[in-house]
Amino acid sequence: MQGSKVLRQAVQGKWALVTGASAGIGLALAEQLAAAGVNLVLTARRSDRLEALAARLRSENGIEVRNITADLAEPSAPQQLLAATEESGLAIDILINNAGFGYSGEFAKGDAAWQRQMVDVNCAAVVHLTGLFLPEMIKRRRGYVMIVASTASYQPVAYMSTYAATKAFDRFLAEALAHEVAEHGVKVSALCPGPTESEFNQVAGLREMRGRSSQSAEEVARLGLEGLVEGRSWVIPYSAGKAMVFMQRFVPRRLVSGAAARMFRPKSR
Ligand SMILES: NC(=O)c1ccc[n+]([C@@H]2O[C@H](COP(=O)([O-])OP(=O)(O)OC[C@H]3O[C@@H](n4cnc5c(N)ncnc54)[C@H](OP(=O)(O)O)[C@@H]3O)[C@@H](O)[C@H]2O)c1
Repeated sequence: MQGSKVLRQAVQGKWALVTGASAGIGLALAEQLAAAGVNLVLTARRSDRLEALAARLRSENGIEVRNITADLAEPSAPQQLLAATEESGLAIDILINNAGFGYSGEFAKGDAAWQRQMVDVNCAAVVHLTGLFLPEMIKRRRGYVMIVASTASYQPVAYMSTYAATKAFDRFLAEALAHEVAEHGVKVSALCPGPTESEFNQVAGLREMRGRSSQSAEEVARLGLEGLVEGRSWVIPYSAGKAMVFMQRFVPRRLVSGAAARMFRPKSR
């Protein structure tokens, strides 16, 4: 696989930590970083998948790959990831906060503990990991942080209420940090995909929506990484999503959230 020239020039030979690398967008991000000559620390819960991916990326790209199995719902996981990279003497110059999951359905009928776990993985772990790795990037005066948000971050989404709120948190965090750390030579970007081919819908219990096409995880990853190295504080890789976000500026908020509610309302309700 041929990584983009701009990406390769910016990141070749550096180390990246990719969360949620066992599937979907995280896996595609790992593949494209590997193709650009980046050494990888991959993490997720499914170690068998990480091992298979690591073996393939090493042989295809001649890079170094380490795997760390971790559950980011555990409050101690980010510190363990930092300790493991420090013990191995790895300077992480690229942090990809990608791991996350959704839930589709009525909030009041959902599992409250699972909704809470979504906040732990999608938000708390992102803040913790970024807080642990960013200071060293600032000291070295170089680095990249990607936070995978979503087009769901641009409006409240009834029937995916907690998920959309976690993604609004992620996008705001990334956009704010981009301003804070630019003067230290560190770039931060929120990647905001629309519907993307991955295991997301299956995990979230989200039905396929007619007329709503999905983008490939490879394309989302490529556009996200290009935006990150170019210093864009947010990237919407999905053209329909870009148009939707632009149009929302001219429409009353209650109409926007009402349209989202109609789109995600479960059929069985
Ligand atoms: N697909 C979409 O339509 C879409 C759209 C917008 C935004 N996104 C965002 O894109 C990101 C990646 O999602 P995806 O679409 O690629 O979904 P996916 O195929 O389900 O992949 C999710 C990844 O997150 C990891 N993960 C989930 N819970 C975890 C936990 N507790 N601890 C550690 N890792 C965990 C999973 O690994 P293990 O299960 O092996 O732990 C997996 O590698 C998410 O942040 C999601 O919100 C997706």
